[in-house]
Amino acid sequence: MVRIAPINIPLRRRRQTTAVAFWVYLLPLCLGCFLILLIPTLWPLLAMYLAWLYLDDAPSTGGRSWEFWRRSKIWKWYCEFFPVALVKTEELDPSKNYIFGYHPHGIIAVGAFAAIATEGANVSEVFPGLNIRLLTLDTNFKLPFYRDLLLGLRVASVSRRSCENILRKGPGHSCMIVVGGATESLSAFPGTNDLVLKKRVGFVKLSLKTGASLVPVFGFGENDIFDQVASGPGTKVRHVQSRIQQIFGFTVPLFYGRGIFNYDLGILPHRRPIVVVVGKPIEVEKMENPTEEDIKKYHDLYIKSLEDLYNQYKDVYAKERVSELRFIA
Ligand SMILES: *[C@@H]1O[C@H](CO)[C@@H](O)[C@H](O)[C@H]1NC(C)=O
Repeated sequence: MVRIAPINIPLRRRRQTTAVAFWVYLLPLCLGCFLILLIPTLWPLLAMYLAWLYLDDAPSTGGRSWEFWRRSKIWKWYCEFFPVALVKTEELDPSKNYIFGYHPHGIIAVGAFAAIATEGANVSEVFPGLNIRLLTLDTNFKLPFYRDLLLGLRVASVSRRSCENILRKGPGHSCMIVVGGATESLSAFPGTNDLVLKKRVGFVKLSLKTGASLVPVFGFGENDIFDQVASGPGTKVRHVQSRIQQIFGFTVPLFYGRGIFNYDLGILPHRRPIVVVVGKPIEVEKMENPTEEDIKKYHDLYIKSLEDLYNQYKDVYAKERVSELRFIA
């Protein structure tokens, strides 16, 4: 049974849905534009663009920010759709650098994108003086035109060189890493809070080497906005997903949500709230060559701090949860 959206939807809601549909179709739109460049008469343009794509090092050097794009009304409407809110638990000092860890990944980390990459939830007012780059897989910056739109939102590569370049840019320069990555997306089911974190220590090492404080961030509701076809370990679907991950670095969760004109079938996310709660920073001691023990110590501290954050807010923002926070890998 598919529930159809009624005709008399207020304009306010129509434009929210439009903003979300725009975001969903942005990648196909960009690839479509690229296909147009394949027309022989446009080959000079194609050659120029490919040269740009090849030479542009911005994904690894902190990206480039198009403030008009980050502050576009589209992102306000986008945030109102769910809605997405950004909550801080402590002031952050703009003279320092921070590495934010975002959990859970969900299907595509919509909360991190909406609250950090865009001004839809007023991140610059919530954390004045901070310049937070949301980091994503390098593969995204190979996608023609889409990459430029991502860069304009301050999104940058999650490679080590990129992280170090950002954190060494000076006071306030910070980054957000969606630590669980693609693997965690396969466990993104509504009401659950399953994280892949036990062996993910790269971000802790980075923080020790650069002296940037670690900040746990929990996106309550991130797992609620899409449904997913279960593909447990050992199934054929999971096998194919693992192969794709080995080859391309990303996974393809079989997710579904709602459509533009119906509430049950499509690839638009559901209208369910996401609250991005930013925890308290963990100060680290800067060291050139952190040992395994140093890394473990701060990794444990981080996990503890993330658990505290979750427990403190779960009864406010995750009332409908079906399971508690679990570290599955
Ligand atoms: C952002 O700030 C504007 C103006 O102060 C306010 O109206 C709006 O509700 C804020 N948005 C969010 C998501 O907090």
